[in-house]
Amino acid sequence: MDEHTLIGAIDQGTSSSRFLVFSAKDFQLITYHQVPIKLISDQAGWVEIDPKAIIDSVVECIEKVSQYLADMGLSHKSIKVVGLTNQRETTILWDKITGEPLYNAIVWLDTRTHSTVDELLAKCNNNSNYLKVECGLPLSTYFSALKIKWLMDNVQEVKDAIRENRCAFGTVDSWILWNLVGNKSIHATDVTNASRTMLMNLKSLEWDDYLCDFFSIPKSILPKIKSSAENYGPINSGSLKGVDIAAVLGDQQADLVGQLCWEKGMAKNTYGTGCFLLYNTGSDIVYSTHGLITTVAYKFGNEKPVYALEGSVAIAGAALNWLRDNLKLLEDERDSEEIAETVKDTGDVYFVPAFSGLFAPHWNATARGLIIGITQYTTKAHIIRATLEAVAFQNLEIVEAMNKDSGTNLKKLQVSGGMSKNKCLLQMQADLLGIPVVRPSMTETTSFGAALTAGKTIGLWDLKDHKSIPIFNDTFYSTISEETRRSKYKKWKKAVEKCMGWDE
Ligand code: G3P
Repeated sequence: MDEHTLIGAIDQGTSSSRFLVFSAKDFQLITYHQVPIKLISDQAGWVEIDPKAIIDSVVECIEKVSQYLADMGLSHKSIKVVGLTNQRETTILWDKITGEPLYNAIVWLDTRTHSTVDELLAKCNNNSNYLKVECGLPLSTYFSALKIKWLMDNVQEVKDAIRENRCAFGTVDSWILWNLVGNKSIHATDVTNASRTMLMNLKSLEWDDYLCDFFSIPKSILPKIKSSAENYGPINSGSLKGVDIAAVLGDQQADLVGQLCWEKGMAKNTYGTGCFLLYNTGSDIVYSTHGLITTVAYKFGNEKPVYALEGSVAIAGAALNWLRDNLKLLEDERDSEEIAETVKDTGDVYFVPAFSGLFAPHWNATARGLIIGITQYTTKAHIIRATLEAVAFQNLEIVEAMNKDSGTNLKKLQVSGGMSKNKCLLQMQADLLGIPVVRPSMTETTSFGAALTAGKTIGLWDLKDHKSIPIFNDTFYSTISEETRRSKYKKWKKAVEKCMGWDE
């Protein structure tokens, strides 16, 4: 391998798009560019993104990185392959003839389909796990099928396009592939993204007739499901014209790969807009009895699929963004660490950020956010600290469920994602979990996972060559007693209880 060989990774997340470049020789991050994404929220519970802004931001990131490489005396021509990773579930419908979106992207956080979920639940004895054997997921506003159904029922352009056979559905990966690869005719997704729609059968890894019928979604609008590691085709324009996209994975699955959790029993937690803890269950499809979901972790080419149990928390970093944008308590979310550390505790304030209801392990769509325990003594610092603590509490609930489902207690928690840079948060996490929290020196493990997978596809390396990558450095240990932990957790549970069913 040429010592300048580079691998690119497109990471399209809920809050930003990024393009990162890694050295194929020693896996170092060489450079990256990031563009924030504007979330449109015109009504309570609605969260949309302009699909064209997604594409523009990705293209801008790629072009900026090419410039940065030139400034460093390197060439974008050294980028041999690109991996793509993305926010999952977010749903886009577009016109196959014109390529124009038929509506804004409906984001995974959006809860407008809450009444549709209720109608469907009524059809199946209020059993939210009715489709779990087929797709691993509970009936929830979170997943794509509900969003497609809403678009089909409410948007005339969608109804027309379906009738005239011009409608295409995709999660964000499919939309990026359609626009960036080939001749605007590649309509594909990978198994990890497809496993978030409620339409793919977990065993066959194909669109499932029964699931499609259940939601009345025509199979003709669905993309072709491919593996996570195969050639999706060459980028069609710009500096990277001709370079193949050779890996596609949902961002949380990419992070499992990037954190080197390739063996059964290994787990990671990513702190982004939300928090997502994935536990590798190998080739076994394990169904949770404690509120977790079953998902495809990855499938490399013709190899057997690997599955995971997942604990999804809707609001983590998004709560800091809310403090910044809506309450103006922060100028920059990165200031939260310093401000939270100006007080020794939250002053008994608890914040449950149930903006989109509560996901795992509660799956309660009617829960709404709450801040409780406020007194004359409470300051902005207490509220900011309580926001960080809320993230840690939500993860404690997930780890507890994961321990019960797996029958073994997690010994340490591997973490990554933008918010994992916050030392105050990670200390709270270790305190509340009572186990070490381990943060890699390089926190860009989601993009790294996409780059690793793309490199594997073109034979640059085999994943097993990289077991020795020394990626861990900071470890946070618990500093509080079991008694303190228990009494804080009791109060948190009390606060959660009070949020439930608020929007009924
Ligand atoms: O399931 C939603 C998840 O993929 C979003 O990830 O990184 O945008 O918070 P992120």
